[in-house]
Amino acid sequence: MRDERVTVLIDEARIAERVAVLATAITRDYAGLDLTVIGILKGSFLFMADLVRRIDLHLTCDFLELSSYGDGMASSGVVRINKDLSQPIAGRHCLVVEDIVDTGLTLRYLLENLSTRGPASVRVCTLLDKPEGRRTEVDVSYVGFRIPNAFVVGYGLDLAQRFRNIPYVGVYHPGGVPEGHGVPDVSEPHLGAGRPQT
Ligand code: PRP
Repeated sequence: MRDERVTVLIDEARIAERVAVLATAITRDYAGLDLTVIGILKGSFLFMADLVRRIDLHLTCDFLELSSYGDGMASSGVVRINKDLSQPIAGRHCLVVEDIVDTGLTLRYLLENLSTRGPASVRVCTLLDKPEGRRTEVDVSYVGFRIPNAFVVGYGLDLAQRFRNIPYVGVYHPGGVPEGHGVPDVSEPHLGAGRPQT
């Protein structure tokens, strides 16, 4: 799907390569442990599907639906659980899979909530990290891409529930693409989390 207001930030091939690198690191770090991968709906559904297929471990998948943005372009800061996990996580190593960490408010709320359920460990893997947007400190163990402060859509990310099915990550330009628009800098941070602490 193409849209004249969306420019490519990270194409499909680059996403696939990086997902494989993330999955290799997770496979190494969690070898021999009981791992539950928790996808945060809705934004993470494509990333979660691609990631778990590349993780070479016995694991379980669960999902939790949160929303904080409503239909706007800025975080409301108010986080709501729309759908909770279907299984307990007591004693399990949990890996939360997010599409994006921006203000960090969603994750802060989520990590506090999960920690009350007695997991062996909880860490976070996000496809995208937007550090300039941060309003609270959160620890993210696996980052796919560090991106600048642009409004991104596609590969699961939406604007008012639209654009999730774009197969790449794009930048949304509400007034159309500006003249001379260049591709913003995207980096792939080092992955050195190691085995989870218990
Ligand atoms: C998005 C995204 C994260 C959160 C990150 O969810 O999936 O959960 O916002 O933002 P933050 O770091 O500023 O809190 P959203 O509420 O848009 O719901 P969605 O996943 O259904 O799109």
